[in-house]
Amino acid sequence: MSAIIIDGKAVSAKVRGEIAEKVAGMEKKPGLAVVIVGEDPASKVYVRNKAKGCAEVGFYSEVHELPESTTEEELMALIDRLNADERINGILCQLPLPKHLNEKAVIDRIRPDKDVDAFHPVNTGKIMIGDYDFLPCTPAGVMRLLEEYGISPEGKNCVVVGRSNIVGKPQAMLLLQKNGTVTVCHSRTPDLKAECRRADILVVAIGKAKFIDADYIKPGATVIDVGMDRDENGKLCGDVDFESVKEVAGAITPVPGGVGPMTIAMLLTNTLKAAEIADK
Ligand code: GUN
Repeated sequence: MSAIIIDGKAVSAKVRGEIAEKVAGMEKKPGLAVVIVGEDPASKVYVRNKAKGCAEVGFYSEVHELPESTTEEELMALIDRLNADERINGILCQLPLPKHLNEKAVIDRIRPDKDVDAFHPVNTGKIMIGDYDFLPCTPAGVMRLLEEYGISPEGKNCVVVGRSNIVGKPQAMLLLQKNGTVTVCHSRTPDLKAECRRADILVVAIGKAKFIDADYIKPGATVIDVGMDRDENGKLCGDVDFESVKEVAGAITPVPGGVGPMTIAMLLTNTLKAAEIADK
């Protein structure tokens, strides 16, 4: 029997529709500033999609495209200006930054109450204790998908593969908050296959095309693929070998069309929340 295909595009559309409805009733529209430094083509596509997502729900948005040669002082000056700008509720600085810029210093400079990526140490700390305003967009998108499909982490073995600050670590915290029993695996995990095979909910974020095949999957498990990779033909694919895994899993996210579309929906959710808090 083939797995249920978790439709991230449909859930994203639903979330964005809910946001648009709220924004229609707001006098002052939420505002998002997106900053991009340099010419990375993938980053440019992401930034364009974020601006488009804002327009579709009725947000005000600005895109600041800075040249590769931008100095840290110049970037910090822009962030300071956006921090002080009342039209702007959320600031997102697209990562990765060019090598000569210090990502950590830039993240630290964004006001925590405008940090709609939830990357600032104040916001990551708040997530740790379960008292937060913003969640990082990718793990939040995963949680919303699970919720929409009635898949509760409570009483389940949840395995997260990958321990990045952006996905793996916060994902583990969120599953734990929902009473999952959470294992975090990474490149030094001795028997990754055995760990994955215990998972009722498996979240994979390692950045290796089609790395997780059917052999890693417990029959009936929910498999969430956070990967955005290219296969041997240059086609977009995930970290999970979708064709083989869908025959074993109970539910699975495709790539594209799974977690990806949720991230912008969660960014818009965070920006709306920032605006609501600012207008209180
Ligand atoms: N680059 C890849 N994903 C992200 C993200 O979620 N936020 C930012 N700021 N940059 C990214």
